[in-house]
Amino acid sequence: MTPTGHRLAAKGTIYLDWNATAPPLADAIRAVASVDAAAWANPSSVHRLGRTARANLEAAREVVAHLLGAEREDLVFTSGGTEANNLALRQAAALVTSRLEHPSITRVAEALEQDRVPVRWLATAPDGLLDPDEVASALAGLPPRSVVAIAWANHETGVIQPVAEIARLAWNVGAKVHLDAVQAVGKLVGVPLAWADTVSVAAHKLGGPKGIGAIAWRSSDSLRPLLLGGAQERGLRPGTQGVGLAAGFACAARWVMDGGSERHRTIAPLRDRLEQALSRFGIANGANAPRMPHVTNLSFYDWRGDELVAALDLEGICAASGSACSAGTAEVSATIGAMLGRERAEAAVRFSLGESTTEAEVEGAIAVMGRVLARAGRESPVAASAG
Ligand SMILES: Cc1ncc(COP(=O)(O)O)c(C=O)c1O
Repeated sequence: MTPTGHRLAAKGTIYLDWNATAPPLADAIRAVASVDAAAWANPSSVHRLGRTARANLEAAREVVAHLLGAEREDLVFTSGGTEANNLALRQAAALVTSRLEHPSITRVAEALEQDRVPVRWLATAPDGLLDPDEVASALAGLPPRSVVAIAWANHETGVIQPVAEIARLAWNVGAKVHLDAVQAVGKLVGVPLAWADTVSVAAHKLGGPKGIGAIAWRSSDSLRPLLLGGAQERGLRPGTQGVGLAAGFACAARWVMDGGSERHRTIAPLRDRLEQALSRFGIANGANAPRMPHVTNLSFYDWRGDELVAALDLEGICAASGSACSAGTAEVSATIGAMLGRERAEAAVRFSLGESTTEAEVEGAIAVMGRVLARAGRESPVAASAG
């Protein structure tokens, strides 16, 4: 099946929350349904129907592995990015990471600390970039096979980390690198396993179905299952696999391998237009660092981020404050807090565009936001620090 890229849309709304999840590809949804209908048997069953399901599962695995730069046998499917990150890190002998990361990394780090596993937190700069030299010094004195866990691109600001340099320095001292590629894969140029021992990814960020992700590796030595059960997924992820979900994942993976990063680059002018129009109402976060082309994150004057998101929702605009995965709760953005402090974090809103966002939508959003923001704007910075 060749994906057409046609996405399911919600009428009457302007969707600027692609980092939370991408609108699904119609072909990916169809692939889930058709494979679940035609190859519904348990892929571990040895009979012919089981073998058909298994063949579909392995065909999907091959495609997703290719996306990450792995061999087919070096990838297991998980329930999503959260589980993949947990699987990569929960058994680490020592961990180096940062407060910029997604909660599926920072919460594991905190749990490791409670278990008295050494964890070192990298310093966070106002621009959201990690310093590779810091990584090297953080690793000093830690046991061999300690893990450095970082995101290729940040989920809230889109800031792209110097992952190749970080990996080189970590590998020099025998450490392992786990790359959270959930937001970046298929959007940035590069093969994630070129700079990592393990890589995590989630289908729904690419236009695939929710409920499936993957971890791929150069070596699986340090991985231990989180769940106990059968021998599925090389014993690392017991439980009967969702073959339809895997087929939908593969469909989305094919779509992004076929020009995803090029299509993404073309979003930058729309993002820049939005950011520039909003800049009189707030201050952009992470805009001075290399960034993904589709994300802008601003802290607004005289607005709490969650209140602004609610006000925009009433006008049909979907945006996010806080982490994609804690939106809906009162938690403020941990990433912006680590970069620029609590005040900036409380006022932060993320707008993430996607490959089917149109100029008309951006202009429509700017017009609506101009009206909403003017209600309370005093047009002066919430904090003087640059970011
Ligand atoms: C950088 C990053 N890592 C991990 C995850 C977790 O992925 P999932 O929601 O599929 O579990 C997310 C989700 O937003 C993310 O942005």
